[in-house]
Amino acid sequence: MIHIDAATHLRYATILTNAGYTFQPFTEEWHEQVYSLFKTYIRRFASSFREEEGIVCVDAKGTLAGALTYTVRELDYGRIAYIHDLAVKTAYRNQGIGTVMLNMLAGRCNEHGVLRIIGNCHKDLRPYYRRIGYRTFPAKIPIVIPEDPTGTLNICRDRYYSCWMWNPA
Ligand SMILES: CC(C)(COP(=O)(O)OP(=O)(O)OC[C@H]1O[C@@H](n2cnc3c(N)ncnc32)[C@H](O)[C@@H]1OP(=O)(O)O)[C@@H](O)C(=O)NCCC(=O)NCCS
Repeated sequence: MIHIDAATHLRYATILTNAGYTFQPFTEEWHEQVYSLFKTYIRRFASSFREEEGIVCVDAKGTLAGALTYTVRELDYGRIAYIHDLAVKTAYRNQGIGTVMLNMLAGRCNEHGVLRIIGNCHKDLRPYYRRIGYRTFPAKIPIVIPEDPTGTLNICRDRYYSCWMWNPA
C-alpha cells in the first residue's frame, strides 16, 4: 500500500472543504485553464493533455486553484502511476492543496492496486515531497522499482527537474 499521512490529510482537507474548496476530476473542460496554470508555474511541464488523469482544486467561486496530472501504466509486473505535473496558484499556496491532491492520488492508487507512484521534481522540492512520504533521489542516481523483476534502472537526466521521487509501500 502507498503511504498516506491520514492525520495531515484530514487536517488540511477539513479546513479546505469548510472554506468551500472542492476537488474534482481533471476533465476536458479544465484543459485550457490547467494548461495555462502549468505554463505559468512549471518551467517545462510534462502533461500533453491527451491521456492524463488528474485532480483539480476549485475554490468556492469556481476558480481553479491548483491541479495534479498523472498517468497509470499497466506494466508486466503491475501498475505504476507517473506524476506529470503539480501546481498551485501562488495566492492559494500553503493551505495544503498540493498535499491533499497528492494524498487523493495515493488513495486512488491504493483502491486500484497501483504499486508505486513515481515522478521527478526540481531539487528544491525534495523536502516537500519527502514530508508527504516520498523518497527522493538526486539526478543520475539510478533507482529500481522493487517489484520489477527485470531490475530496470530508472535514471532521471532531466535538466530542470532532476530528481526522482517515489512513494514506497
Ligand atoms: C509545490 C507546490 C505545488 C506546493 O503546493 P501547496 O498547495 O502550496 O503545498 P501545501 O500547502 O500542500 O504545502 C504543505 C506544506 O509544505 C510546505 N511546503 C510548501 N512548499 C514547500 C517547499 N518548496 N519545500 C518544503 N516545504 C514546502 C508548506 O510550508 C506546508 O507546511 P506546513 O503545513 O507545515 O506549513 C506549489 O508551491 C507550486 O505550485 N509550486 C510551483 C510549481 C512547481 O514547482 N510544481 C512542482 C513541479 S515538480
